[in-house]
Amino acid sequence: MDSNAVNADLASVLYTKEEIQSRIEELAAQIDKDYEGRDILVVGVLKGAVMVMADLARALNSHVTMDWMAVSSYGSGTQSSGVVRILKDLDSDLMGKHVLIVEDIIDSGLTLSWLKSNLESRGPASVEICALLRKPEAAKVEIDVKYVGMDIPNKFVVGYGLDWAEKYRNLDCVGVLAPHIYQ
Ligand code: PRP
Repeated sequence: MDSNAVNADLASVLYTKEEIQSRIEELAAQIDKDYEGRDILVVGVLKGAVMVMADLARALNSHVTMDWMAVSSYGSGTQSSGVVRILKDLDSDLMGKHVLIVEDIIDSGLTLSWLKSNLESRGPASVEICALLRKPEAAKVEIDVKYVGMDIPNKFVVGYGLDWAEKYRNLDCVGVLAPHIYQ
């Protein structure tokens, strides 16, 4: 789906599909360099990270294995609480592996902060994070993120994996949702 299909639902397009692809290729080149000679276990966090995972993994020249987690944040409404429940755990043993967590967005940082500590407790050689988007103004915890695509304003964004009520994940760009949709 492109932005024309949902033009009335978007206040603006933040990043086009070409801009996203180009930034993902830059991130992949940096990751290839940093992990030279080492295999990477990329862990995608369902569901939002599906698009980033698919494009980042294909842009990498390193050997990767792919695994997935699904987590749910306890708490009411749309705010993360920091208490996370694992809905689907990894299939892989992390012992001695170089783990790269792939996310679509870091909002408060609470989900990733919990997830990073959880994966670090499983004996990996390393755990790093790659997130396409980050909202610095929404941060509630400081979190060390090695690879960030773009820092964005604290607005409701959808597309490229990000949803509102499960819709817009298949939008090929990242856009700001028009307030009349969710108000
Ligand atoms: C989003 C996103 C992160 C989390 C970030 O997932 O994919 O996992 O929220 O928020 P935080 O930094 O405030 O913790 P969401 O819970 O919306 O699930 P989804 O990926 O299935 O859409």
